[in-house]
Amino acid sequence: MPVATIDWVKNAVRIIDQTKLPNKTVYKDIKDIKSMQRAIKRLEVRGAPAIGVAGALGVLLGIGDRDYKDHVAFKKRLDYVISYLGSSRPTAVNLFWALERMRKCAKTNARRPVSEIRKALLKEALAVLREDRIICRKMAGYGASLIKDGDAILTHCNAGGLATVDYGTALGVIFKAHEDRKRIKVFADETRPLLQGARLTAWELVREKIDVTLICDNMAASLMANGKINKVFVGADRIASNGDTANKIGTYNVAVCAHYHSIPFYVVAPVATFDISIKKGDDIPIEERSGDEVRKILGRDIAPRQVKTYNPAFDVTPHGLISAIITERGIIRPPFSAIRHIIK
Ligand code: MRU
Repeated sequence: MPVATIDWVKNAVRIIDQTKLPNKTVYKDIKDIKSMQRAIKRLEVRGAPAIGVAGALGVLLGIGDRDYKDHVAFKKRLDYVISYLGSSRPTAVNLFWALERMRKCAKTNARRPVSEIRKALLKEALAVLREDRIICRKMAGYGASLIKDGDAILTHCNAGGLATVDYGTALGVIFKAHEDRKRIKVFADETRPLLQGARLTAWELVREKIDVTLICDNMAASLMANGKINKVFVGADRIASNGDTANKIGTYNVAVCAHYHSIPFYVVAPVATFDISIKKGDDIPIEERSGDEVRKILGRDIAPRQVKTYNPAFDVTPHGLISAIITERGIIRPPFSAIRHIIK
C-alpha cells in the first residue's frame, strides 16, 4: 500500500511529519501559511514533487476564506502568499512550478467573484495532487522496463512515496519492478546529514517487503567495485535544459563512482522538475542549510560546537554522467538535446 504523504482534509493540509519517521508515524494538519512555510523549511514535508503539492495547497491556506475588500486586495494577498511560500526552499523547481500554476489559474479566473476564484484555486491544487499520482505511476512503468530480474540497485536520499503524493519517482520504479515480480535487491545510501535514506527510504522499502540493505554513504564505491551494484536510480530537484541534474548532496559522488565502474545511472523525474529557463547546472540555485545539521546527528553533537561547517543540501550531476532521464513522457537518452522538445 503506497504511503499517503499529503492530502487536503477539512480545509487543512494533512501531512506525515517526516521528521518523526521512522520511529513514529505522525499525521499533522497544517492550517495556516506560516506553518506550511515552516513545515517545508524543516523538511516535515519534503521531496520535490511533494513540496510542489504543499505549495499549491499552501496557497489555499494563505488566501483563507475571509472577505476581501476588492479584487485588488485579493491579488495583493495572493502575490504575497506565493512569494512567501516560494521563500521556503530554493532548489526544487516543482515548488515554483506549482505556485506559478496557481497564479495562472487565478489570472484565468480574475473576472469572477473572489469566492469563485478560490474554488478554482482549490480545484487546481487538487489537480496538481491527483496528477502526481498518475505521473509517478507512468514514470514507474517506463523505468521498470530498464530493470531486469536479479538487478541490484543503489538509490540515494528518498525519492519514494514520501517525496511525492504517494508512490515516488526513483522508488516508484523499484515498487513497479517488485509488483512485476522481478527479483531485485536495493541498496539505500543513508544520506547524511539528514538521513533521508536511512529514515525514509529504508522505512518505505521494508514496509513493502522489498529486499533492502542500508549502507553508509562512503560505502557505495566499494560495493560497485565488488560487483554488488549494477544500476543506480535517483530522483531530482531541478534539471537544466542540458540535462545537468540537481539532487540531494552526495548524488554527484554516486554518479562519478557509477561512471568509473560502468554502471548505468538513471534519473527519474516528472516534467515539472525540468527548468528549461536554466541552460546548465551551474545556474541552479543550491540551498545551504544550518551547520548544526552537520555538527549533530538526530539532535546529538558529534563535533565541537565551534567547528566550521559547510552544508549545501544539493549537488549537481553533470549530464555526461547520466545514462537516461525517465519522465512521464518517456525515457530521454543522451545527448539530452531532446529535452527542449519534450519539455515545453
Ligand atoms: O532535502 P530533501 O529531502 O527535500 O531532498 C529530496 C531529494 O533530493 C530527492 O531526491 C528529490 O526531491 C527527488 S524526490 C522524488
